[in-house]
Amino acid sequence: MSHILLVTSSPRGAESLSTRFATEIAEGLKARSGGTLTVRDLAADPLPHITSAYVNGRITAPDARTPEQVEAVRIAQELVDELKAADVVVLGSGMINFGPSSQLKAWFDHIIWPAVTFGYGDTGPKGLLTGKKVYLVAAAGGVFSEGAWAPFDFQSNYLLHLLGFIGLTDVELVRVEGTVFGPDAAKAAIANTEMAVQTLLAKAA
Ligand SMILES: Cc1cc2nc3c(=O)[nH]c(=O)nc-3n(C[C@H](O)[C@H](O)[C@H](O)COP(=O)(O)O)c2cc1C
Repeated sequence: MSHILLVTSSPRGAESLSTRFATEIAEGLKARSGGTLTVRDLAADPLPHITSAYVNGRITAPDARTPEQVEAVRIAQELVDELKAADVVVLGSGMINFGPSSQLKAWFDHIIWPAVTFGYGDTGPKGLLTGKKVYLVAAAGGVFSEGAWAPFDFQSNYLLHLLGFIGLTDVELVRVEGTVFGPDAAKAAIANTEMAVQTLLAKAA
C-alpha cells in the first residue's frame, strides 16, 4: 500500500489538462494499490512567494524566530512533511510562458531547502529525498518533445532538474502537448496522452 501525493498547479481551472491527467494517474494508482491520497491544489490554494521571513527564518534557531519567520517556516515545513510522507508523487504542470506556473515555482521555492531536502556532499549537491516514484504531467500548447521548439522547453527540463536536485530521480514524464493547433490536433494530443496514461497505469498495476 502506498501513499500518493497529487500536486496540481494549473491556473486554468476545470480546463486544465495537466490537472485532468495528473488526477487520473493519482486516482488510478490509488485504486490499484489500495493506497491513500493527499491532494495539494496550488491553484485553488496558492502559496505565498518566499520572502525574507522565510529565507532568514530557516537559518534562524526556532526559538529566535520572529512571528513572521515562524509562520513562513511553518508553511515550508508542512509542504516538506507532506512530500516526505509520500511514496509516489504525481505532479501536474501547465506551461505558462515557456516555464511552469508561478504557483508551482512557489512550491519548489518552499521545498528546496538546504540540509532538509538537499545537502552538499563531497562531490557536490546531493538530494535527500530518495526512494519515491514521480509522475510528471507536463501540458503545453506547443510541441516541445521534439522539433524546433524543443530547446525552449523550460518547463519539463527545469522541473526534471529541480526534482533530481532533491533526489527525486525516478520520474516518468507524461506530456500533453500540441493542443493549440486547432480542435483536431487538440483531440489527437489528448487521445495520445490518454493512451499513455492507460499504459502506465496498466504497468503500475
Ligand atoms: C497565460 C498562458 C501562457 C501560456 N504560455 C504558453 C507558452 O509559453 N508556450 C506554450 O506552448 N503554451 C502556452 N500556453 C498554453 C498552455 O501551456 C496550454 O493551454 C496547457 O494545456 C496549459 O496547461 P493546463 O492545460 O494544465 O492548464 C499558455 C497558456 C496560458 C493561459
